[in-house]
Amino acid sequence: MGKLSNKTAVVTGGSSGIGLSTAKRFAAAGATVFITGRREEELEKAKAEIGGDVIAVQGDIANLADLDRLWGQVKQERGSVDIIVTNAGIAEAASLPEATPEHFDRTFAINARGTFFTVQKALPLLNEGGSIVLVAGVGHMLGWSDFPAYSASKAAVRSFARSWAAELLSRRIRVNSVSPGPIETPILDGLYTGGSDPEAVRAGLVGTVPMGRMGGADEIASAILFLASSESSFITGTDMAVDGGTTQL
Ligand SMILES: NC(=O)c1ccc[n+]([C@@H]2O[C@H](COP(=O)([O-])OP(=O)(O)OC[C@H]3O[C@@H](n4cnc5c(N)ncnc54)[C@H](OP(=O)(O)O)[C@@H]3O)[C@@H](O)[C@H]2O)c1
Repeated sequence: MGKLSNKTAVVTGGSSGIGLSTAKRFAAAGATVFITGRREEELEKAKAEIGGDVIAVQGDIANLADLDRLWGQVKQERGSVDIIVTNAGIAEAASLPEATPEHFDRTFAINARGTFFTVQKALPLLNEGGSIVLVAGVGHMLGWSDFPAYSASKAAVRSFARSWAAELLSRRIRVNSVSPGPIETPILDGLYTGGSDPEAVRAGLVGTVPMGRMGGADEIASAILFLASSESSFITGTDMAVDGGTTQL
């Protein structure tokens, strides 16, 4: 018996990086896993890579009709859900003077509003004893220049974990967030735009980590698996930093 045998899990943004590693861990632990993402081709590749009991549902978390379609499919195929990982997100650099209204709205529409309605629309399907893991980021704890909108969107996510943990106590549903430090995934490509030297950007990121290296997506997936499973049965409302010591040392 795996840790997640007979469980149904939904991982948004399960086609790449942290979400893909998490979906692999969940499938290996015996769960039926739904993965989402906007790009169909990436989703199909991920599905083949994950193996096990995986269902890919194309959709944008910023689009409420897509969220209705996702949860409609989960209801039709499984009837209910035990674990939700709200991992889909974007990270665009834009300092305060550079940031456009479009950048701000896109960042909040996906990272904050998209996360909010992903969970709101799942409420009727969530089983008692379930677990919700929100992927935030260390930005919400740090004063990072170049990422004010992104960091604030992650502060919203961390705050949702506290509010929802309180709201869902009576249904015995735990809610926690995970805050990754710099992790080697395709999201970093977005930081190398605007003529910046990728090696210099990487070195800058590594320089913020006391352990002196980037993290791997699988190291975040381990923390998410812990918070999703009954191994963390007395933990709710917390934020777990998985960041090589960045926010703690
Ligand atoms: N990597 C890091 O250093 C780091 C650090 C802190 C926090 N995080 C957070 O970790 C999460 C995962 O990031 P990652 O590093 O694994 O990045 P990634 O490799 O770029 O993966 C992001 C995933 O989210 C999906 N996605 C993005 N926008 C979406 C939308 N509007 N609707 C549905 N799916 C969407 C992407 O697929 P499509 O593009 O096809 O939609 C992809 O599957 C994000 O929330 C990110 O902010 C990452």
